[in-house]
Amino acid sequence: MRYHSSGNIPQKRHTVFKSPEDNFYYEQLFGTEGFHGISSLLYHIHRPTQIKEVKLYKDATPQIAVAKNIQPRMFKGKDVTPEDDFLESRKILMLNNDLKMGLAKPRKSTGYFYKNAHMDELFFVHEGKGVLKTFVGDLEFGVGDYLIIPRGTIYQMEFETENNVLFFIESNSPIYTPKRYRNEFGQLLEHSPFCERDIIVPTLYAPKDEKGEFLIKVKKEDMIWDITYATHPFDVVGWDGFFYPFKFNIKNFEPITGRVHQPPPVHQTFEAHNFVVCSFVARLFDYHPLAIPAPYNHSNIDSDEVLFYTEGDFMSRNHIDLMDFTLHPGGIVHGPHPGAMERSIGVKETHEYAVMVDPFRPLLLTEEAMKVEDPSYLTSWLE
Ligand SMILES: [Fe+2]
Repeated sequence: MRYHSSGNIPQKRHTVFKSPEDNFYYEQLFGTEGFHGISSLLYHIHRPTQIKEVKLYKDATPQIAVAKNIQPRMFKGKDVTPEDDFLESRKILMLNNDLKMGLAKPRKSTGYFYKNAHMDELFFVHEGKGVLKTFVGDLEFGVGDYLIIPRGTIYQMEFETENNVLFFIESNSPIYTPKRYRNEFGQLLEHSPFCERDIIVPTLYAPKDEKGEFLIKVKKEDMIWDITYATHPFDVVGWDGFFYPFKFNIKNFEPITGRVHQPPPVHQTFEAHNFVVCSFVARLFDYHPLAIPAPYNHSNIDSDEVLFYTEGDFMSRNHIDLMDFTLHPGGIVHGPHPGAMERSIGVKETHEYAVMVDPFRPLLLTEEAMKVEDPSYLTSWLE
């Protein structure tokens, strides 16, 4: 993350700041991890605290089907049901105490505002196009974009398309770029597979000075609340700091390759407490004359592994459709499908794109996941 400033802000923080009409602007500290994490200061036309009503919208607690899983599994993303509404469309497939993840196929833009009050959200756009509108500005998005939306961000999703497919994560802890790629000042280092130019910050447009009834759906601890505010939440005239939503496109991830097979950490893109997110991208394969580009069999003892296949042919698997999820639970050896290792020898490059999530604690599976499971995956390595 880096310092960013947008719109009008006072020369000194926590001092009088007024409009040309001599009205006060109202300052808000918006940050994460108490007062020691990153934060921004926002300046509102109206007090951001003017609640009119709070009502329970729904209990969105995921229904657990498998609490303790040891099987390799495959879930067919193409079979996940689309829904008109953005929140209804979010089908959580797997979760633990650190994260929830799944697939959303929302058909319509959100008329209301939304805020996840206690989890960071990551969206990976598999299909669709639109604008993420937030109280610190707008981000246009399209296929291949990761959208990182920190907890507390008030936002709307405006889709230009109807067939939208979003892989999503809700994270209990903040989602950051990997620490090993940042220096002590936070700057991304030369060996990082992406740099600040690849990270797109929201553009702030004219503030909305409106009073009335503004519905913000607020998610906290699996409950979604309808909170009606008296002023438009996008009334920010300016802000500065380190805490804001951003986007990063997977095609801007510069792959790290080697003479022999490189381990998964070279694909790492984001980190949070107890899980990492990696991007598998089009790349040249290993160039030792006897290199085996397919991964070796391995038992990822300390994490589960989830892959979401988004573009191209995946070289280590025989029967993968785009939008499929595979889950390889910790402690169970997994590896390429029969024939995949042999096929990979001598191949020069791959055009695969996939997002991998490695949670360090075992995943629970939901009823929604069971609806789209392909049970034949378990025995798909038999020769
Ligand atoms: Fe693996």
